Amino acid sequence: MQNVIKDRIFMVTGAAGGVGRAVVKQLAEQGAKIIATDIAENVHDLAKDFPEASLVTVVGDVSKSSDVENIFNVGEEKFGPVESLISNAGYMIGKALHETSEEDWDAVMSGNAKSFFLCAKRALPNMLKAGKGSITATGSISSVVGLPSQAAYCASKGAVLQLVRQLAVEYAANGIRVNAVGPGAINTPFLTRYLAGLPDPEAGAKAVKDAHPMKRWAEPEEVATSLIFLASDNAAFVTGHILMVDGGYVAG
Ligand SMILES: NC(=O)c1ccc[n+]([C@@H]2O[C@H](COP(=O)([O-])OP(=O)(O)OC[C@H]3O[C@@H](n4cnc5c(N)ncnc54)[C@H](O)[C@@H]3O)[C@@H](O)[C@H]2O)c1
Repeated sequence: MQNVIKDRIFMVTGAAGGVGRAVVKQLAEQGAKIIATDIAENVHDLAKDFPEASLVTVVGDVSKSSDVENIFNVGEEKFGPVESLISNAGYMIGKALHETSEEDWDAVMSGNAKSFFLCAKRALPNMLKAGKGSITATGSISSVVGLPSQAAYCASKGAVLQLVRQLAVEYAANGIRVNAVGPGAINTPFLTRYLAGLPDPEAGAKAVKDAHPMKRWAEPEEVATSLIFLASDNAAFVTGHILMVDGGYVAG
């Protein structure tokens, strides 16, 4: 199969986390030009960890438009306009609605929905000029089903999916495809933090695995492969789609 990744310019948000790092690794192996960004300073470690990669790392908060502007400016200076945006940064506060403060709500909606809006908004003008591009978001099973103690998170990931669908329709004729992946639980620091907050983390881990028909959670590499597929020309006729990477979770 032709390598449709080589020399293509990708931006990956949440690149210091479990899934983002796996995306950067796989893109690097396939010869992409990568703008890797995260709010965490250790995003810079990617350059040391993947010395062969064509990579620029930028620290910034993708829920703030001034940071998003800076991230894109730094990336564009190095490689040129972003051709494929992978909007993967995410944040969860695990609470029922009656326990969710206004600050919790704003933080989760900003971290997941507003960050996607801001990055897509900044990427689109250059994609429109080029007449092509792809935008791929990390949604969740929480984009499509309600889950206990995830009031703001489910709302924010549902918003991500609806924005994916809206953008797909809006920009299809401009050669821009917009999709999402919908992971179940993934073996990343995000999941570790979630389990650590439960009264019995070990029982919680078993319950999380058992909730997936395949009786396990995903490794970040499995989610990364699907993100890259949707972002690449291998998915040239796929738009407005959420690819569930959930071991069958929402099939039941
Ligand atoms: N791990 C899971 O079980 C799971 C399940 C479904 C969906 N997801 C989604 O997968 C995506 C990747 O998460 P992960 O599992 O790799 O978690 P992770 O916590 O390992 O990585 C998330 C990264 O996003 C960064 N980030 C958060 N808010 C940011 C902001 N405002 N600006 C810039 N960077 C920010 C964090 O610093 C972190 O490095 C997220 O969108 C998450 O919601 C995760």
